[in-house]
Amino acid sequence: MHTHEKLLDKLEINPDDEILDVSAGTGLMAEAILKKFGNVRKLVLNDPSAKMLEEARYRLRYEEAEYTSHFAEELPFDDSSFSQIICLNAFHYYTEQQKALGHFRRLLKPGGTLWLQDWNRSGWFVILNQFISQLTPEHINTRSEDEFKKMLADAGFSIRESDRWSYKWWKFFYARCE
Ligand SMILES: C[S@@+](CC[C@H](N)C(=O)[O-])C[C@H]1O[C@@H](n2cnc3c(N)ncnc32)[C@H](O)[C@@H]1O
Repeated sequence: MHTHEKLLDKLEINPDDEILDVSAGTGLMAEAILKKFGNVRKLVLNDPSAKMLEEARYRLRYEEAEYTSHFAEELPFDDSSFSQIICLNAFHYYTEQQKALGHFRRLLKPGGTLWLQDWNRSGWFVILNQFISQLTPEHINTRSEDEFKKMLADAGFSIRESDRWSYKWWKFFYARCE
């Protein structure tokens, strides 16, 4: 998928990494990471949907992966448990986004990296977003680039690299944060 390829191009992963994919869905990103970078020290695929994780487990067939099912707002892992946290295509679903960012900050080891990529509510995409929000039963709170930057700063993150782009009807935002 377009978004997975985009993030995969940016990611820097090495074998010592302890990675949390916060909203791993069906494991597409984890699969791409293992294929591109090989095995890592720890790989946790988290998603509140047990059904998604079941698909991920089937897709990966990677014995060392761990699967957990928590909301991003209630991650129970110990402080400084991960060197890399990935949040892809999911932030707009979080009901308490600042709280989730607080957990990401807490869970990252010193010098660790948060890779955040999601929809960017800007320009004509604002109108499409309103339609999507009305049509879907799910909670949707898409953020603009400025909002992302403020929320990340409020959570204590520094943005090392960021990007924004359009793809078909969609607009996206990416940030590499420490
Ligand atoms: C569009 S999917 C993206 C999955 C995956 N990151 C990918 O890009 O292939 C969004 C995911 O966010 C998860 N999600 C929804 N609300 C969440 C929350 N509060 N905390 C963590 N994950 C959540 C959903 O279960 C779903 O798997």
